[in-house]
Amino acid sequence: MTLLQHLNSLVTSAFQQSDIPETYPTLISLSQRPEFGDYQVNGAMQAAKALKINPIALAEKVAAYLSKQPTIQSAQACKPGFINIFIEDQWLTEKLNNLYLSSRCGIKKASSPKTIVIDYSHPNIAKEMAVHHLRSTVIGDSIARLLFFLGHNVIRQNHIGDWGTQFGMLIALLESDEYDYIETPKLSDLENFYKAAKKRFDQDTDFAKKASSYVVKLQSNDPYFIKIWKKIVHISMEQNQQIYHRLNISLTAADVYGESAYNDLLPMIIKLLVKKELLTQHNGAKVVFLEHFKNKENEPMGVILQKSDGGYLYSTTDLAALYYRAHNLDATEIIYCVDARQTQHLEQIFSIAALANFIPKDIVLKHYEFGMMLDATGKPFKTRSGKTIKLSDLLDEAELRSTNILAERHSDLEEADRVKVINALAIGAIKYADLSKNRSSNYVFNWDSMLSFEGNTAPYLLYAYTRIQSIFRKSKHITVQDTDKFSLKETIERKMSLILIRFHDVLNKVEKEGKPHLLCSYLYELASHFMSFYESCPILNTNIDPEQQKSRLMLCDITAKTLKIGLDLLGIQTVDRM
Ligand code: ARG
Repeated sequence: MTLLQHLNSLVTSAFQQSDIPETYPTLISLSQRPEFGDYQVNGAMQAAKALKINPIALAEKVAAYLSKQPTIQSAQACKPGFINIFIEDQWLTEKLNNLYLSSRCGIKKASSPKTIVIDYSHPNIAKEMAVHHLRSTVIGDSIARLLFFLGHNVIRQNHIGDWGTQFGMLIALLESDEYDYIETPKLSDLENFYKAAKKRFDQDTDFAKKASSYVVKLQSNDPYFIKIWKKIVHISMEQNQQIYHRLNISLTAADVYGESAYNDLLPMIIKLLVKKELLTQHNGAKVVFLEHFKNKENEPMGVILQKSDGGYLYSTTDLAALYYRAHNLDATEIIYCVDARQTQHLEQIFSIAALANFIPKDIVLKHYEFGMMLDATGKPFKTRSGKTIKLSDLLDEAELRSTNILAERHSDLEEADRVKVINALAIGAIKYADLSKNRSSNYVFNWDSMLSFEGNTAPYLLYAYTRIQSIFRKSKHITVQDTDKFSLKETIERKMSLILIRFHDVLNKVEKEGKPHLLCSYLYELASHFMSFYESCPILNTNIDPEQQKSRLMLCDITAKTLKIGLDLLGIQTVDRM
């Protein structure tokens, strides 16, 4: 049981003893100030109001029950009806012992694991990954790591944009004489070809006709066209995979299941919708009209699923993907880590699936939407000339800046370690800057603040971690045994313990809300308290009591483990020295 779950069960019994009906929530939160205890209960006050009884009398009754519990040192009722809870030190030290002895900081895997599909990253083929792919990739990967750590069966799905009319143009161009089909074009070549093809398509009617006929050939699985198309996809994904590797993203080639993978399912999806009488013929197209989505004229909005020429759309593919994930992958939950601008699209897909009744009723569908990356002036983050920034260029710049920062710090690391630190700082800073903001809002991309060693940043956390490693290096002569006990004499030691014990509750909350920034804030709180603890509680002094010294070293140990696991869940690698 986590700390919060334990308190919740105590308060629930206290409510029962005090005749508060079960329907009233306990409302337990962290206390804002130490004199108000460790945790605060607000539920009794709310219940008293609704039940029209004296709040302070009710709070006293609840507090009296809580005070008798062995794990509670004291519980006090305060006006107008809060209850402040102080946790028993002995219970804290027992909990700390569990954390100390466990390599997972005491976090058990889920007893009934869910099968969770996560749709993230999903770049479009024949284009280099750009900054706008960063958020989905980084946030999705962190969620995937967290859910896996908590014991769920996680299935990553990279829903790449690998199908559509653009491939007809691209193949037509690659085939034409002046491009002299290159055996192994690079992705940057493909992107240029694609731009040239688009231009030609708009200007040259013969070329446009040819390109359109190639789309038809491709869609009817003509082996020659499929072969070239496969090559284009392969070149693109090979390069994207290198970006994933640089960014320490856990996606592999096996997780790629793009739009093209659903081709064969599309006619079946249409048939299903016809059978449910959901499709209407509208100007030759097949459309589902959704009553609760209104268009500009305030009429039910139509979602086109098949065009008059028989072609399918992004929506059709997404319906097929939903079907596949529910039935073939047996998902109990599906998480879409997709740009907030696609909110309506996804809501429509979820609504159509519900109307058609083609996925189990209890399947949980979540859209983890995110905002945009902005520059200092509040505009979408682009190059000076207004072009999209390639992800590989962004990573190069991060590495360059980290190299300079490390040089300024006169670090005397050996070459191999120096490279590791530069990498950890560069990648850590980019990912952490993104993950530490509430994903639902836009955020301002700022090199200086993300690479600063002060504040809620990756460099700060990475540095705190190396401080602890340096303490371990200097205290090698002290042997701590598993049987050694914690002794929490100073207020800051007790505070550190409470923060460490909270880790599991924090992870549960991140799982529930899908918001990695909650984990970031927690790690920052932990690291900054560690810095104060280390300043006021000497560890390496010779005149310090050995019991105290060991207890403090054990606190360092749990702190380091928590930071490492926490950063790992964010996809950020730690280093032992800087
Ligand atoms: N490739 C799409 C784009 O770049 C995003 C795909 C999101 N996932 C999905 N199942 N629709 O806009």
